[in-house]
Amino acid sequence: MMITSRWRMLVVMVVAAAMAMAAAPAMVCGRDLNQTVTAQAMQQGQGSSNKKPLVTALIVFGDSIVDPGNNNNLPSTRMKANHAPYGKDFAGHVATGRFSNALLPPDLIAQRLNLKPLLGPWLNVEHTPEDLLTGVSFASGATGFDPLTPQLVNVFTMDQELEFFDEYRRRLVGIVGEAETRRIIAGAFFFVVSGTDDLANTYFMTPYRAGDYDIPAYVDLLLVGAEAFLRNASARGARKMGFTGMPPIGCVPSQRTIGGGPRRRCEARRNYAALMYNKALQQLIGRLNADPTFHTLVVYFDIYDIIEELAVHGDRWGFTELTHGCCGSGLIEVTMLCDARYMGVCDDVDKHVFFDSYHPTQRAYEIIVDYIFKNYVPLMHL
Ligand SMILES: *[C@@H]1O[C@H](CO)[C@@H](O)[C@H](O)[C@H]1NC(C)=O
Ligand SMILES: *[C@@H]1O[C@H](CO)[C@@H](O)[C@H](O)[C@H]1NC(C)=O
Repeated sequence: MMITSRWRMLVVMVVAAAMAMAAAPAMVCGRDLNQTVTAQAMQQGQGSSNKKPLVTALIVFGDSIVDPGNNNNLPSTRMKANHAPYGKDFAGHVATGRFSNALLPPDLIAQRLNLKPLLGPWLNVEHTPEDLLTGVSFASGATGFDPLTPQLVNVFTMDQELEFFDEYRRRLVGIVGEAETRRIIAGAFFFVVSGTDDLANTYFMTPYRAGDYDIPAYVDLLLVGAEAFLRNASARGARKMGFTGMPPIGCVPSQRTIGGGPRRRCEARRNYAALMYNKALQQLIGRLNADPTFHTLVVYFDIYDIIEELAVHGDRWGFTELTHGCCGSGLIEVTMLCDARYMGVCDDVDKHVFFDSYHPTQRAYEIIVDYIFKNYVPLMHL
């Protein structure tokens, strides 16, 4: 893949400007995170530990929607949420690396499954054996199914996430042995969220793919990556998997700013691409589920409609700010550009659908996770 010097220069300039703005983001080391997790676990533990867990473990792959801090361990990337205002409403106001004001969907799902109050990252945390046995997240913010997507921003690929899973599996075998490891993995809820960075960043923001691929061809490329991932995860023993589709990415604040014209409408081409991907993804999942040699039950989680509902009609859900993030102007600030040292942060987060210009608030995530549990988790036969 040729990355032209003009575009590389532009990327370098944008990143350099951002680095100058955020010269020394606070690092959260494994110890701090571990202590926060332990404190929060003790705080919230009662609710979830009394009830019987619905699955053996929650195992997560994907991007920033589900990365609780793996990117903190990557010196090469600026795609991190380890500085204020991220974590504004997390226990102790700690910016763990979660791209939101507090919890992410994997935390909320782990609670709903009666597993634990928080789902931690795989990297750089001293997991207790029990914590490992009930699952972790291998996700890396800003990655995707297009191999170019993680390469452009120096984050982990979906293949590297699977390799982390292989290390994780070896750790489990060391703790409980091979037979019990098999049982845990077969009984685990696999949750995958990836693909939006491919469209929002790689396809619509850089020239590297848009020149050679029209939208249907790019959707096909993403589906090749998604299918490889699904087959690889299935071969590793995943038996029950929730696989999310695309949200209406044209309606997230940054994409309204970039593509939505002076009135910042939802940008139609991005939404069209998302819908086309979702349709093709459902066909792929239908085909895999019907294949007798494929031993994973994959349930497609549609998040398009619920996020469109929140981003366009959020007033029905008690939100008053649907089109601006909570960080700075709310128009464009995300990751290193969203930094509380240099900009104001809203004090009514729960009225906002989006925390930064790309990622929902915990309150929006709660509604989305409720929707998933009502509509799709029953199909997983947990
Ligand atoms: C991490 O938490 C566990 C308890 O959950 C504790 O035993 C361990 O010492 C902690 N490690 C660090 C580095 O704080
Ligand atoms: C995933 O599948 C692809 C295609 O079959 C293969 O090339 C790749 O090595 C696999 N990755 C892992 C981590 O197993």
